[in-house]
Amino acid sequence: MTRRLALVGLGPGDPELVTAQAARVLNEVAYFLVADKTGQHPGTADLIAMREAICERHVTGEWRLVHVPDPERDRADPVDYATAVRDWHEARAQVYEQALLDNPGDAAVLVWGDPALYDSAIRLADRIVERGRVEVAVEVVPGVSSVQLLAARHRLVLNAIGGPITITTGRRLLEDAADGDNLVVMLDGALTCRRLPEPWTWRIWWGANLGSSDEQLVAGRLDEVADAIWSRRAEVKQGRGWVMDTYLLRRR
Ligand SMILES: C[S@@+](CC[C@H](N)C(=O)[O-])C[C@H]1O[C@@H](n2cnc3c(N)ncnc32)[C@H](O)[C@@H]1O
Repeated sequence: MTRRLALVGLGPGDPELVTAQAARVLNEVAYFLVADKTGQHPGTADLIAMREAICERHVTGEWRLVHVPDPERDRADPVDYATAVRDWHEARAQVYEQALLDNPGDAAVLVWGDPALYDSAIRLADRIVERGRVEVAVEVVPGVSSVQLLAARHRLVLNAIGGPITITTGRRLLEDAADGDNLVVMLDGALTCRRLPEPWTWRIWWGANLGSSDEQLVAGRLDEVADAIWSRRAEVKQGRGWVMDTYLLRRR
């Protein structure tokens, strides 16, 4: 029998940012699957606790979390990044597939933010379907992304009037900034914007751990605030055990 596999965007951490649709779906399935990276990054236990707080708040009655141990990604060869990520996705498909085989009933994957933005849940679900060992009907429930929350906190419109916006990663920033002047940067543990040439020509709106109790916001001219952002970032990581940050860069 075909089972439901719902990929539910939970938003960036704040239980109040869970949509009514996400809450309904969470109430309809038998259990929730969550990637467990605590073996590799102990700080991520708090991220699981935040998901639990969301379930506690929005699910009436009993709920059950199934932890899926996240396979380690091979970071040794950054040159072949695409292959390393593909292999990692395959290993993840296998562990999720096994979790579905071990746990009957409809399931929801608890996705941080929105499943459409730098998240592998949709590709993962597609791969599970392709492998054909479990019969699932996949549905995607959108969530509020960290980018939306960053914009709201800084009261920003992300694009200039009628203009484009590039959403990119720290890894690609230096390349993308060469021909862009309005960029959102995610997945940037190194705060790569500090290496941009002519930093005084950029303005930055930065947010860390948005939607959590230790949310941080900084805005200003990049050359003037970059050092402060770097130390705030370190403080949050030290205090909370994890830090996730997103920023908008715009040419002045
Ligand atoms: C794997 S991506 C997941 C993005 C997520 N799907 C979304 O919609 O926001 C992780 C990156 O998202 C951003 N991020 C996620 N949650 C965040 C938060 N609460 N505050 C700031 N940035 C966050 C950071 O750039 C982080 O490196």
